[in-house]
Amino acid sequence: MDPSTVRVDEVAAEETYALRGAVLRPDGGEIVWPGDEDPETFHLAARTPAGSVVGVVRFSPAPCPWPGAGGGVIARSSWQLRGMATDPAVRGSGTGRALVVAGLTAVAARGGDLVWCDARVSAAGFYERMGFTVVSEAFDKPGIGPHVGMVKNL
Ligand SMILES: CC(C)(COP(=O)(O)OP(=O)(O)OC[C@H]1O[C@@H](n2cnc3c(N)ncnc32)[C@H](O)[C@@H]1OP(=O)(O)O)[C@@H](O)C(=O)NCCC(=O)NCCS
Repeated sequence: MDPSTVRVDEVAAEETYALRGAVLRPDGGEIVWPGDEDPETFHLAARTPAGSVVGVVRFSPAPCPWPGAGGGVIARSSWQLRGMATDPAVRGSGTGRALVVAGLTAVAARGGDLVWCDARVSAAGFYERMGFTVVSEAFDKPGIGPHVGMVKNL
């Protein structure tokens, strides 16, 4: 898919749940997470011109678990990136990038100066392409797999 045809918008949490479930919880784990409805949380969806949701992500204010990592500066306003998923049919075509770029811009507009995530090791290379840095040892999330902490200063 040509990424220029994908449109990224802020959406209600519910609009992200189908892809979140299919990609991130294929074995039926919980797809509605604490904080989804917090007023400061925002959700983004990438949609095709026909309206199909092909990518989703969530951003919410949350203290960074690795304060001072990734450059040594303690952030004043840290945000967590979570629930990042793109449809397998569009991977590698810029949909994930479009979501992260839009999200980082929106976090900065809200005054955030750092974004962090628990990255699946299999996706760490994607976040590195987006400018994130690994700041922790690998750790396991039961039922999901190995993760690393990653941060990006804005
Ligand atoms: C990780 C994921 C969101 C990437 O989405 P995507 O739509 O393929 O990403 P893009 O096409 O925008 O890729 C952007 C860049 O990252 C690279 N990239 C994408 N996935 C990568 C990966 N897993 N490892 C290394 N590099 C990757 C792309 O090649 C591209 O490189 P470029 O800068 O040279 O163009 C997607 O593969 C996915 O949903 N994976 C399964 C769920 C998952 O692991 N989510 C993250 C949970 S922490």
